[in-house]
Amino acid sequence: MAWIERYGHGGDLHTASMVFGIGQEELLDFSANINPLGPPHELLTEITHGLKSIIHYPDPAHRSFRGALANKLDIDADCILPGNGAAECMALAIQGLAPRRIGVVYPCFSEYARLAAQFGAEVTGCYGQDELNYKPRQEELFQLFQHTDLVFIGHPNNPTGITYSLAELMEMAAWAELTSTYLIIDEAFIDFLQPKNQITLLPQLDQFPHVILIRSMTKFYAIPGLRLGFAVGHSHVIDKLKHKQVTWSVNQLALLAGELCLHLSDYEIQTRQLIEQQRSFLIHTIEEDLKWKVCPGEANFLLVRLPETIKSADLQMDLGQQGIMIRDCSMYPGLSPQDFRIAVRTEDENIRLLAALKQCTMGKGSRA
Ligand SMILES: Cc1ncc(COP(=O)(O)O)c(C=O)c1O
Repeated sequence: MAWIERYGHGGDLHTASMVFGIGQEELLDFSANINPLGPPHELLTEITHGLKSIIHYPDPAHRSFRGALANKLDIDADCILPGNGAAECMALAIQGLAPRRIGVVYPCFSEYARLAAQFGAEVTGCYGQDELNYKPRQEELFQLFQHTDLVFIGHPNNPTGITYSLAELMEMAAWAELTSTYLIIDEAFIDFLQPKNQITLLPQLDQFPHVILIRSMTKFYAIPGLRLGFAVGHSHVIDKLKHKQVTWSVNQLALLAGELCLHLSDYEIQTRQLIEQQRSFLIHTIEEDLKWKVCPGEANFLLVRLPETIKSADLQMDLGQQGIMIRDCSMYPGLSPQDFRIAVRTEDENIRLLAALKQCTMGKGSRA
């Protein structure tokens, strides 16, 4: 059987198009968690105007973008390092902080372990528990800090969507200081939450020199092909990451786009409203009509567990034939062959997915 996630991630339109014989533009992609509204229209205008600036090198110190971001987040610009996507910031953290052992909490974003292997670090994991909504037992998490030099925590975590309370984050940060272990909190999806639910250590970072936050702008502003993310931490820690960055790795158009995006509050509000409504709609229909279990996360994607009689890999192939891509999660350590993930998209797209799910699973024992 063809392996749609042969490069380890969702959103691989190229592979899906080859496997299903359907043009990339015709595929409906629920496998990558990108804002379904698409990039803000102002951004497309900005990039078109900005094209003339590509005859110059981008600012190697990213001053204008960092300044605007520092203003918005109310922090010092020296505490920020923009990267070519959040993924580059993670790579820079591993290179700059040179951990020998990296801790992860399974199931989690596969790049944590992949980057660890790429830069020669050993990975130690503990497992989120089903009964704790995929959060780890406290004592196991503490041991992870004791036995590693750097721990990655997804908040919201991919693929579960689970978030941590402020008390839990503060406790982890305190453990990071106690054990001199770096804590990287991957907040790539936090912008999709309503502001009141965006629990973050950003205002407390002063107290925690071992804590780094990493955010992505590619998902929320729907620019994964342009690439933009950033890391926030103590300036002397950020300097260590900076020293490993290839000069000009963040391109001029991404910097222009990033700066503009910081001022698009209508788009932010519209996105969060859409995600909140459509999340509820998807959860309600999946749980009530299909009787499948949805992980109680908070992000713009849902982790769903099928009944024993259906495998997510088969469902992925069935839906793929209809031009719909979902993320089979069976290869995530800590998950089962019944787990899959879908992005929250627009109402019409979600209705199409739900109809296809019902159709595909009819007669396969989908009902409880
Ligand atoms: C949890 C998580 N963090 C970071 C990233 C990478 O984000 P970016 O596109 O900004 O590199 C992803 C991409 O899928 C992700 O799922």
